[in-house]
Amino acid sequence: MAVPFDQLEGQIWFNGEFVDWKDAKIHVLTHGLHYASAVFEGERAYGGRIFKLTEHNRRLHRSAEVLGFKIPYSVEELDAASVELLKRQGFSEAYVRPIAWRGSEMMGVSAQSNRINVAIAIWQWGSYFNPAEKLKGIRLDIAEYRRPDPKTAPCESKAAGLYMICTISKHAAEAKGYADAMMLDYRGQVAEATGANIFFVKDGVLHTPTPDCFLNGLTRQTVIELAKRRGYQVVERAIMPEELSSFSECFLTGSAAEVTPVSEIGPYRFTPAAITETLMNDYMKEVQPLAAASE
Ligand SMILES: Cc1ncc(COP(=O)(O)O)c(C=O)c1O
Repeated sequence: MAVPFDQLEGQIWFNGEFVDWKDAKIHVLTHGLHYASAVFEGERAYGGRIFKLTEHNRRLHRSAEVLGFKIPYSVEELDAASVELLKRQGFSEAYVRPIAWRGSEMMGVSAQSNRINVAIAIWQWGSYFNPAEKLKGIRLDIAEYRRPDPKTAPCESKAAGLYMICTISKHAAEAKGYADAMMLDYRGQVAEATGANIFFVKDGVLHTPTPDCFLNGLTRQTVIELAKRRGYQVVERAIMPEELSSFSECFLTGSAAEVTPVSEIGPYRFTPAAITETLMNDYMKEVQPLAAASE
């Protein structure tokens, strides 16, 4: 068994202070735990630099606003805290997890006067998917749950509550031997995986669903930019699941997932090939501080 996350070593930035990892605790009567009034980010550090740190912290602020609360630390303060914490943790390759949540002052649906708490944790975390499996392409099931209508849930927010259907879907897929699940949206269109966006390739052109009811991932935006730099055409549009048989390549994008080739989605088959490999390599170059500095 791996060491549980509450027993790792080092420090956690907790409401403005660096505290010992084991002391970063909250009470069981925390609004964020009971009512999912929490927003978070997932970032990766490469070569000692957190990729798109400011963009992630801006999104954290925006996610909180969508849930009706304001994070009591500026984007600049969160950036500085993350950089200092990465240094203190002593890692150059790492995963960064900021989270903001409503505290314990009121217990009920209404939480008007609850303190907004913020923490940042950094740990070493390898490939999101098994590295050997990653190269040949991972297998996805098609989830039963669908991404909700923006009129039903605050889809623009990276809100903890929206991950409830992701965990259910990922567990169901894993129980059948798949690595993850692809989720459709409320209209039955292809949406994304449980923690990553999705791209397809047909005749040298990239196709990806329009992010109108799920996160327009920072990695998704980076990969679109990299694809365009290579001269590839990228089409953002509604994609129906029946169309999957017409695509030759498929891959996922996400801060945790990076660029991950996909070989199967339910009955559909894909062969990771030149475009996926090119973008995988371009992404890994883009995230390195040296590559960024020499631009
Ligand atoms: C549900 C979901 N979609 C998409 C993404 C990709 O977003 P990003 O590339 O900004 O990490 C993530 C990861 O944060 C996610 O959890």
